[in-house]
Amino acid sequence: MTTHELRQKYLDFFKNKGHAIIPSASLLPENDPTTLFTSAGMQPMIPYLLGEKHPLGVRIADSQRCFRTQDINEIGDNRHTTCFEMLGNWSLGDYFKKEQISWMFEFLTKELKLDPNRIFITVFGGKLDINIPKDDDAVQLWQEEFKKLGIEAKAVENVTENGMQDGKIFYYDETKNWWSRAGISSSMPVGEPGGPDSEIFWDFGVDKQIHENSQFSKQKCHVNCDCGRFIEIGNNVFMQYIKTKTGFEQLPQQNVDFGGGLERMTMAAIDSPDIFNIDLFQTAIRKLEDISGKKYDANADDNKAFRIICDHLKAATLLIFDGANPSNVDQGYFTRRLIRRSVRYAHQLGIEKSFANQIVEEYINYYSEIYKIDSKKDQILAEITSEEEKFAKTLEKGLKEFEKMSRGNKISGHEAFILFSTYGFPLEMTEELALEKGINIDEAEFNSEFVKHQNLSRHGSEKKFKGGLAEHSDATMKLHTATHLLHSALRQVLGKHVNQKGSNITEERLRFDFTHPDKMTPEQIKKVEDLVNKWIEADYQVICQELPYDEAREKKVTGLFEDKYGDIVKVYTVGDVSAEMCGGPHVEHTGELGHFQIKKEESSSAGIRRIKAVLN
Ligand code: SER
Repeated sequence: MTTHELRQKYLDFFKNKGHAIIPSASLLPENDPTTLFTSAGMQPMIPYLLGEKHPLGVRIADSQRCFRTQDINEIGDNRHTTCFEMLGNWSLGDYFKKEQISWMFEFLTKELKLDPNRIFITVFGGKLDINIPKDDDAVQLWQEEFKKLGIEAKAVENVTENGMQDGKIFYYDETKNWWSRAGISSSMPVGEPGGPDSEIFWDFGVDKQIHENSQFSKQKCHVNCDCGRFIEIGNNVFMQYIKTKTGFEQLPQQNVDFGGGLERMTMAAIDSPDIFNIDLFQTAIRKLEDISGKKYDANADDNKAFRIICDHLKAATLLIFDGANPSNVDQGYFTRRLIRRSVRYAHQLGIEKSFANQIVEEYINYYSEIYKIDSKKDQILAEITSEEEKFAKTLEKGLKEFEKMSRGNKISGHEAFILFSTYGFPLEMTEELALEKGINIDEAEFNSEFVKHQNLSRHGSEKKFKGGLAEHSDATMKLHTATHLLHSALRQVLGKHVNQKGSNITEERLRFDFTHPDKMTPEQIKKVEDLVNKWIEADYQVICQELPYDEAREKKVTGLFEDKYGDIVKVYTVGDVSAEMCGGPHVEHTGELGHFQIKKEESSSAGIRRIKAVLN
């Protein structure tokens, strides 16, 4: 089975069950200022899960392209990819567990013809301190489905200690079987929807000895073991709760959020424990074999290089398609990192010429079946090649330099900085090279070099900052700091219900969208302006700190939908008037901002106001 076939089967199946099929949204989220990338299919669905009416009804299905930055360093094993499609179906207050479980079982066993003996299930084990019971309903529903096919599905607990115990259905705690964008911790933001989930796993079979041959062989194997014997192919989230100040409350509607990895389901359908064996990657792998003169073999040493190159160039293709051209800023920085990392691994495979466009062309061919990517083909190829060539020029010299530097078994922050500024090595790449040699980098020193460099180039038109390695002009940086002040001032003047909904900054103005039901009065506008100007005159220092996520939440830092997948967040504090999670960059003192003026206050959409403001 191919990925195109599987995707079509899934969408047809849910269309037949009354679902409206919607196209994939971009990898770069719109109207969500808090996260760089679309990393789950449900992300664009949040407003509807919370109760807003979806124009296409209460049953929706799609295949959403996703990108997960946190998986960049995981690539190289049998099942991780940074960029994947998530098959999704949603019930927006319509059907619930019974239908979802029976349909999903039908889809897997009848449509994909997966052997039910090799399907395993996990469910939520309950969390008494927040009064959410274990999900016995789901267990019973799954058991009924298995029974129809003559299988007694035993449900067991304590799998991490005791292993499989001949079970078919396993209770896990909230770290595995609860889904919301910020986990279940007490620091989860108020207003976040979430719920217990039930995951589906495919077993590649005990006979393949995957567990025994893995580094995890000493531990008891169970479906969530990292050995690779089992793979999660889908997650049914029963999204029926919303976080409150004190705990959880039932949402007004019971939703279903199903997300299943298209590529992983295809692995199960063709029963291959290596994701790079599915059709989507095979053409790229063959091409890379031609170019390198090497053979891809899942067990060979250079499989990691093959996998990284094929994963990263696929992601880079789609990122550029969605508008994230390689750069030193924001999303484009990831595109740059992915391409540069591919070039380094290609070098390791002995590839000396420009090669990336040949791989990318395979992906463009593939995606032209489902997206209008052809129209951007020339642009994508040009961006890839230009980035590749830029880096290829310095890579070899940089690697030599790295070898020299690492002789003392330590790379100083200053040296890492030279590799960055002279040879274009993203810090992460130097870290990876260092890790391979078992040596450390002084990251704090690297950061301080960065700041020094930033000060040196203060009068240049381009500046680079660690905060997203940005190229920001003075004007946009000032407006960015002003945006934080505006946010705080709005909360003081209008109330704590004000939350950022969107932000966009050009050289000329800031634009800020926020939750507030009414049009602001001229007096309120004046008050907000005065407050911001007072804070500017106070010439507060702007301080950047990196804090663990939970600590930041406890400190009541602003930022409702901060990048929920990161454990460490950056917080910018302005005197005692503002503390906000943010990637930066900002000015060092508010005194630099000049005079703040609101030019326009208008409605953006229901319950959301929009302000445009300038500094002069
Ligand atoms: N939201 C869930 C996930 O991302 C299911 O779609 O896994």
